[in-house]
Amino acid sequence: MRYKVELKNKNIINKMTLKEKALLLSGKGMWKTYDFEAYGIPAFFLSDGPHGMRTQEGQGDWLGINKSKAATCFPTAATIANSWDPELAEEVASALGEEAVSFGVDMILGPGMNIKRSPLCGRNFEYFSEDPYLAGELGAAYVKGIQSKGPAACPKHFAVNSQELRRMSNNSVVDERTLREIYTAAFETTVKKAAPKAIMSSYNQINGVYANENQDLLQKLLRDTFGFHGIVVSDWGASNDHTEGVRCGSNLEMPGNSGTTAKELVRAVQKGRLDEKILDKRIDEILTTMLPVHQLVEMGKKSFDAEEHHKLARKAAAQSIVLLKNQDNILPLSENKTVAVIGEFAEKARYQGAGSSLVNPTKVENIMDIIDGYSFKKVIYEPGYHRNQKTDHRLLECAKKAAAEADTVLLFVGLDEASESEGMDRVHMKMPQNQLELINAVTGMNTETVVIVSAGSVVEMPWIRKVKAVVHGYLGGQAGASAMLDVITGKTNPSGKLNETYPICYEDTPAYAYYPGKERNSEYREGLYVGYRYYDTVKKEVLFPFGYGLSYTDFTYSDLSVSEKGVSFCITNTGNFAGAEIAQLYIEKEAPEVFRPVHELKGFSKVFLKPGETGRIEIPFEERTFAYFNVQTGEWEIEEGNYKILIAKNSRECVLQENVYQKGTGAKNPYKVHLSEYETGHVEQVSDDSYEKLLGYKIPDGAWNGELEKNDAFCQLYYAKGTVGRIIYRILDKMMKKSEKKGEANLDILFFYNMPFRGLINTTHGIFTSGMVDGFVKIVNGHLLTGLGKMLWSAIARK
Ligand code: BGC
Repeated sequence: MRYKVELKNKNIINKMTLKEKALLLSGKGMWKTYDFEAYGIPAFFLSDGPHGMRTQEGQGDWLGINKSKAATCFPTAATIANSWDPELAEEVASALGEEAVSFGVDMILGPGMNIKRSPLCGRNFEYFSEDPYLAGELGAAYVKGIQSKGPAACPKHFAVNSQELRRMSNNSVVDERTLREIYTAAFETTVKKAAPKAIMSSYNQINGVYANENQDLLQKLLRDTFGFHGIVVSDWGASNDHTEGVRCGSNLEMPGNSGTTAKELVRAVQKGRLDEKILDKRIDEILTTMLPVHQLVEMGKKSFDAEEHHKLARKAAAQSIVLLKNQDNILPLSENKTVAVIGEFAEKARYQGAGSSLVNPTKVENIMDIIDGYSFKKVIYEPGYHRNQKTDHRLLECAKKAAAEADTVLLFVGLDEASESEGMDRVHMKMPQNQLELINAVTGMNTETVVIVSAGSVVEMPWIRKVKAVVHGYLGGQAGASAMLDVITGKTNPSGKLNETYPICYEDTPAYAYYPGKERNSEYREGLYVGYRYYDTVKKEVLFPFGYGLSYTDFTYSDLSVSEKGVSFCITNTGNFAGAEIAQLYIEKEAPEVFRPVHELKGFSKVFLKPGETGRIEIPFEERTFAYFNVQTGEWEIEEGNYKILIAKNSRECVLQENVYQKGTGAKNPYKVHLSEYETGHVEQVSDDSYEKLLGYKIPDGAWNGELEKNDAFCQLYYAKGTVGRIIYRILDKMMKKSEKKGEANLDILFFYNMPFRGLINTTHGIFTSGMVDGFVKIVNGHLLTGLGKMLWSAIARK
């Protein structure tokens, strides 16, 4: 079949040589694309920035190691998600857009939209939620905000990329319904509601095919079904086979490799393996999308107001703080008190995560630098613990003494920088041991203890009963400290609600038995039952449910009416503080024939009310409110019958309810056999048989029992048959252990540890060719001489 394309930029494309076309489809260096002055094609500048710009001028890297220009560090996505406030998200994103323009950046690599499948994913702090509805609404808001200022937004990482371990090689094995309802739904909403100009394809494979060369994902789903019109950019180093990527719908391979893979493209066209028209189409997509963007960015260039953006960062952090416990209304705290501020995070804030999202902030607030601006009677400070997780008895003793002297203890704890980072998954859900010891010691001296948590993801709280209050700031960005003190002292009434469930312990999580994926596969056996979809269906006790958060005031819900169009109800502020409430709409199907989680979030609304004030809330029904994805028809279908309309404060606290009868679309139950685990939600130990029936195909063999391949990661050299491979493994392993001992995440080593062998092409900027990688693979498999020969020959032939 001949490939038919209507080019919008044919005047330019027809003049370009094959080599020039090939070059335009991969980066020139770390952050830019090739420029062709003769044709009026500038270099497009791409830069990280899910929650602040990481624009590098000097040596570039994709791990957040080298310096970047000073920019505002806003709260991370996981934090802002607790605000449940798309308007706020859009405001923050438009400030990001402004900063990007001031740096001449054409594309912001964000927002991060992956679903929090397990609390242990090292990048959860960069992602919005365990729920695709919430993530989709916020993702769309970010994209609108960024693009309103000119730059392109690039939501990432498409798709099913919820694990950092071996992130560049693992194969996410997921059934189609879960793919559509959970892992791609937020992207779909974002594409439909906000038309992002770019999407970043993820590192992993999906059902055996790399995301960046997955035609089903990039062409059929993203472009044909979601209606995406922008460009697909590979994650940095995610391109496995560039030619295949271009053929299947990927536009830009990043970072550059000095033209090595462009040569592969040229050869593929010359040998007839790739139609040049496909190259033309990919280029046309790039030019159509990026030329107007670049023009806007060039025209809009001006410096940004760092002070104003700092204020916005403070507002965003304040709106996102979640009050989890407030026994005896210990908060808000009267300032007429002696407080012991304990915890190193109060002196040196923990406010952002590590890796490619790392921002060099314009300034950072620390509690101890600003607390004098509040009128506490007396403030005593003790660090209490070291960030490196080692117990220090002297610090513990000093903290105890301070606690005993104070009326109230403000105890700042959470996860340190080494505990959560891009490039690694957490190994447990606990807080560092030395901090747990501190909480024990302090609460033994003073029960009037308020714990302030800084962490980008879920932690176990075995100490919760010992403390009076818990305030969660997540990772609050550069102005998180004043936002927090405002909440503690009542200048701000907390209104955030959790974007994810807090299980009691890690063993309770639905993917516990499957996460992180072992060997080559990441088996998504729990299917749809992610987060509250699992806990609520099986009625598992949790520490805090999804959508939970307290306020200093009370809200009463009344007067629900349901129409075909949606729901309408009233909320009254019946307490003494002005404040905001986040109302949530969940839908439950009574006695479903097609299995589904007990209820799912289908809408929400945030309203600010003064004491005594009543607001009327309207939440419209949407196309998917009652629908599920039917794997037989390949469409979203509605099962006919009774549905409960639940208006709730959180996923476990329904306050208003009504039943409606909903007409169906008539599709038959796609599951021909009983899948008891999925019917009951008890997905803790899904059998191979049920999983295969859900998948509709045999579980791929992910075992490392044969030879290593070019897509296996360096950490898999453990299985190498050749001595050279095993020696490399030992060296890497030693380096990993050394950095673990130091209590810091060494991103360089982590990166190599998880990198597949083919990554050598990008990381050596094209010094390694793909033939040399093949030779290397032969060597690690024990074929030293053939491998060396292949490497040498490929080095000379540059193939
Ligand atoms: C990350 C992306 C990031 C890119 C560029 C990758 O390692 O996964 O999120 O945008 O690097 O820094």
